[in-house]
Amino acid sequence: MPSIAIIGAQWGDEGKGKVTDYLCENADVVVRFQGGANAGHTVVAGTRTFKLHLMPSGVIRGATSVLAEGMVIDLDTLWEEIQTLRSAGLDPTGRLKISDRAHLVLPHHKKLDAGGGMIGTTARGIGPAYADRSARIGIRAGDLRSDTAILDRIAALWNAHPDQVRDVGWDASAIPDVFQTWRARFAPYLADTGRLIRGALKEGSRVLFEGAQGVLLDLSAGTYPYVTSSYTTAAGVAVGAGIPPNLIGNVFGVSKAYTTRVGQGPFPTELQNELGDRVRAAGNEYGTTTGRPRRCGWLDAVALRYACDLNGFSGLVLTKLDVLTGIHPLHIATEYRIDGARIAAFPADHEALSRVTVTYTTAEGWQEDLSGVRRFENLPPAARRYLDLVAALSGTPLAAVSVGAHRDQTLAVRPIW
Ligand code: IMP
Repeated sequence: MPSIAIIGAQWGDEGKGKVTDYLCENADVVVRFQGGANAGHTVVAGTRTFKLHLMPSGVIRGATSVLAEGMVIDLDTLWEEIQTLRSAGLDPTGRLKISDRAHLVLPHHKKLDAGGGMIGTTARGIGPAYADRSARIGIRAGDLRSDTAILDRIAALWNAHPDQVRDVGWDASAIPDVFQTWRARFAPYLADTGRLIRGALKEGSRVLFEGAQGVLLDLSAGTYPYVTSSYTTAAGVAVGAGIPPNLIGNVFGVSKAYTTRVGQGPFPTELQNELGDRVRAAGNEYGTTTGRPRRCGWLDAVALRYACDLNGFSGLVLTKLDVLTGIHPLHIATEYRIDGARIAAFPADHEALSRVTVTYTTAEGWQEDLSGVRRFENLPPAARRYLDLVAALSGTPLAAVSVGAHRDQTLAVRPIW
């Protein structure tokens, strides 16, 4: 099967952008299928660092880059990314395809989401945009093609929440000027991207589906309500990209060698102490999108097993192993208990998750700097044992390990494509 999916196995920020960039060398098409500018992918290419929010990471390698129909797109942010890429000599024109079915993030969505609320969102308008989509009053990228469609959709929005629409200076009788700008800028990129991807797969092209956020932020499977508003699991690929599920090939989960979380919500293995601060500093754990310090903690194999079960991962890519250098002993969560009783599964109830006590297994740490290691076999024995333990506890074989932000700091364990 010429397609693979890369899925975040934790609460996002696992290093999917770097992993995608590494795998893109062999990809013809790279697809973002959910989320929007809440994502933040940092890709280091030689001496250049790119921080992308909407554009698939593959755009830097020259792959056809698709923003598929499961996304909510902030066209102003996308325009900034196009300009950044152009000035770096990587003009995506001709390779960038935007689904005409994707929804737009509109000014009132961002206003409603400002400040992040009690969920601690990224304030990019994601939840309100998906809410309008589900309420069937959203505006889709394809609507930019027609004045009638835009007027019709604005009238629908106006009927549903006139105060919000009035508040951003729009009314139901005229097309706001910004639509002319968006049309001029983006009409050339609009496409039936589902058809394009299905056609590419039929012809044997290699397609990479690049997940954003992570399993525990999935609207359905995650730690609701402290989740994002899209489907971040492998199951989301089919609906979000517009392909039949049987065209999704191998699915790889990306996890850090420890755990981080931004925003509110339960986090059983969180280290609210000096060790947590040390991991944050060593791993530079600050949000790409919001700059917020990330909460840091031990690797949680209970949550990881849940992610593996839900997604059927063919393999795990473990990132940021280098950050754990010098910490001894290392801990990995193996079991949750509530009121002394072991719980068999990752709980649906966030209140229960916030009350669990965690049982840990320990592993020997290592002192060696890993950033110069270029082959898996050359990792120190203690690091190899830690990785073996992660694979055993998650029931999933390792596919690759990452020991730094650069492309050559990814150590292959088995072939991925
Ligand atoms: P939203 O996606 O902006 O609505 O935020 C909902 C929750 O998901 C918040 O806890 C955010 O911090 C979290 N979140 C959204 N996108 C990301 C991401 O790319 N990485 C990590 N956390 C994210």
